[in-house]
Amino acid sequence: MNIVAGIREVRAWRASAPEPLGLVPTMGFLHAGHISLVERARRENASVAASIFVNPTQFGPKEDLTRYPRDLPRDLRLLEDAGCDLVFAPEVAEMYPPGADTLVVPGKVAEPLEGARRPGHFRGVATVVVKLLNIVRPARAYFGEKDAQQLAVIRATVRHLDMAVEIVGCPIVREPDGLAMSSRNSYLTPEERRAAPVLFRALGAAGELWQHGERDGDRLRTAMGGVVESEPLARLDYASVADPESFGEVGRASGTVLLLLAVFLGKARLIDNLRLEA
Ligand code: PAJ
Repeated sequence: MNIVAGIREVRAWRASAPEPLGLVPTMGFLHAGHISLVERARRENASVAASIFVNPTQFGPKEDLTRYPRDLPRDLRLLEDAGCDLVFAPEVAEMYPPGADTLVVPGKVAEPLEGARRPGHFRGVATVVVKLLNIVRPARAYFGEKDAQQLAVIRATVRHLDMAVEIVGCPIVREPDGLAMSSRNSYLTPEERRAAPVLFRALGAAGELWQHGERDGDRLRTAMGGVVESEPLARLDYASVADPESFGEVGRASGTVLLLLAVFLGKARLIDNLRLEA
């Protein structure tokens, strides 16, 4: 496995990498969710590259950029075991040299939910993902459905900017108790960790109503909110029943919807989602 920190070295490696090439962008502190993307990329491509970069432009001034968890040696071992060929792990100055102030502004799908709670977040995500795609120029890039709105923002950005890459969405990997894997789960105290499956339980409760024919957005939102509020350590940020394309709130569902939750648990802000088919 090649490990490089420079854009020039990526391009040099890429020149002789077997085609097609799959890319898995990450911020490191890898878990089984990330590795599932690498394994999928490995199955579908002749070469696999991963990036590890805690991207400062997608963090708000009061967010967790400085304390975001990092463990590069462990990440490299996991990527090597998963069959990754190249790891691009740049410093901030390599990605954002002085004066590099051009940003990618995503469209309407970036406005509600995460976009509203985290101003500038998706602008930072779109900017770094476009840069990574331009640096590595993969045939396919792999992203998790865990960050469903992020996936939609990236799909729209790539489509609107006519970029020749296939965006592949991959299913959410969960702990045995239902908690969606996340690097930010490491912020949880043991007590908060025991409370954290409340997100999955809340999604499941609304999913159950859906199975019994409930199509009213407010009732589904209230069901999720009620389960989250029954957990004393949890504080609801939002409970959404959204259109899976626009991420606008649904009044009465006529087709597939996405249930989305954001919940504060101590220092952590956790997100999760569940797709309900029509
Ligand atoms: P990060 O949070 O490290 O996640 C990297 C990729 O792994 C994302 O596509 C994310 O959706 C996926 N992922 C995370 N947890 C997952 C899980 N439990 N199951 C399946 N996939 C999961 O998302 C980012 O980094 C950044 O915003 C990035 C796209 C790299 C841009 O900086």
